[in-house]
Amino acid sequence: MDKLVIEGGTPLSGTIRIHGAKNAALPILAASMLAEGKMQLRNVPRLLDIDVMLGILARLGCKAVHLGDVVTIDTGSADSSHVPEDLMKQMRSSIFLMGPLLARFGEVCIYQPGGCAIGERKIDLHLKGLEALGAKIEEKDQQIWCRASKLVGTDIHLDFPSVGATENIMMAAALAEGTTILSNAAREPEIQDLQNFLNAMGASVIGAGTDTITIRGVKRLQPCDYEIIPDRIVAGTALIAVAATRGTVTLTHCNPAHLVALLHVLRRAGIQIGATNDIITIISSGRPKAVERIVTSPYPSFPTDLQSQIMVLLALADGLSLMKETVFEGRFKHVDELVRMGADISVDLNSAYIRGVPRLYGATVEATDLRAGAALVIAGLAAQGKTIVEQVHHIDRGYDRIEMMFQRLGGAMHRESPALKQLDLA
Ligand code: EPZ
Repeated sequence: MDKLVIEGGTPLSGTIRIHGAKNAALPILAASMLAEGKMQLRNVPRLLDIDVMLGILARLGCKAVHLGDVVTIDTGSADSSHVPEDLMKQMRSSIFLMGPLLARFGEVCIYQPGGCAIGERKIDLHLKGLEALGAKIEEKDQQIWCRASKLVGTDIHLDFPSVGATENIMMAAALAEGTTILSNAAREPEIQDLQNFLNAMGASVIGAGTDTITIRGVKRLQPCDYEIIPDRIVAGTALIAVAATRGTVTLTHCNPAHLVALLHVLRRAGIQIGATNDIITIISSGRPKAVERIVTSPYPSFPTDLQSQIMVLLALADGLSLMKETVFEGRFKHVDELVRMGADISVDLNSAYIRGVPRLYGATVEATDLRAGAALVIAGLAAQGKTIVEQVHHIDRGYDRIEMMFQRLGGAMHRESPALKQLDLA
């Protein structure tokens, strides 16, 4: 298993370009199954989760090539709607294939995606939404069969603004007969990107970015080329790392409008932020101030995907901060590792009380999930001494070679890879 070796204490500086959004590319790759033919998707990041999604599409009969940040996919040869169990288990986001495969083939078989370190990750809202459109669902052993001779538009209200359920329903409803009005929908920028992609294929979707999305079903969709939006969570992770190391950095190819909640918190912590339409500049000189209370909740509130990262900054701040996690029930797995690095954090149910300390100390720590792993990298960059982050594959799911991003900003870190060592390429 790869490790990241980090020598902390260097203020990050320089300029980096932010890669495309994992959480936009995954549903859009799934949505490409709604049309038959060749498409080119640009700004697709090179991540483990993208590799798994492309692997699933290939197993379903598609031809897909990922060169640089461009995916060329031909969905015309797809001949199966049975998502392979081995790949389904690797990535929960395979659930995004239900809507498109059901709409195209009238039947889809997936496996329970299972939870991961951050919580149960139920899919009841996905299944209820597809049933409302006319699907019959049968669960046996670990398999979930979903069939519909015809999908019919209807009014659907989500009990919770689930990102994935919103996306699955949008994709299935795009080819349904009639109109679907989806209320209490998720409002994330990735939902808007999916709407724009569906409409580029000839769908008729409006309202993404608000809590009510209207999808007027059409008979067929056409293949199209498309460019994925920047990854707001990767941008946010980089900003927090710069703040924690008291550096000065410029991010390009990002979208400040997708990061309003984070930029507000960073300014409250005393960090200087400048933003234009696709550039963010951050200047952090002194010790950050504590932020009295941060509550994660669906967009446009503070994102749960930046909770573990911002906790590192708060752990170094001057004062007491409260972090409340309301989206996932198990997303504090990074706290124990931060405490081992000298942080003063106590957890009570879904609240974390963070009393800032002057410095953190390097240690050998383990990534438990994608964003917790990114938080440990930030902690290592800010800490005094050497940090080794293990189980780096979690981080590679959502960051394209995170060590290169921070090396470009002067961070003293490198990857140790047993596989490369064996080949004497390390
Ligand atoms: C998406 O996951 C993102 N993943 C997650 O990012 C992100 O944390 C999450 O949205 C919230 O913003 C992708 O887009 C690939 P949800 P998703 O459905 O769709 C409960 C990352 O780090 N729920 O909005 O799975 C669920 O248990 C990942 O990039 C149900 O109860 O999130 C959770 O508590 C992590 N029933 C809450 O809703 C359902 O049917 C939010 O889940 C579905 C969800």
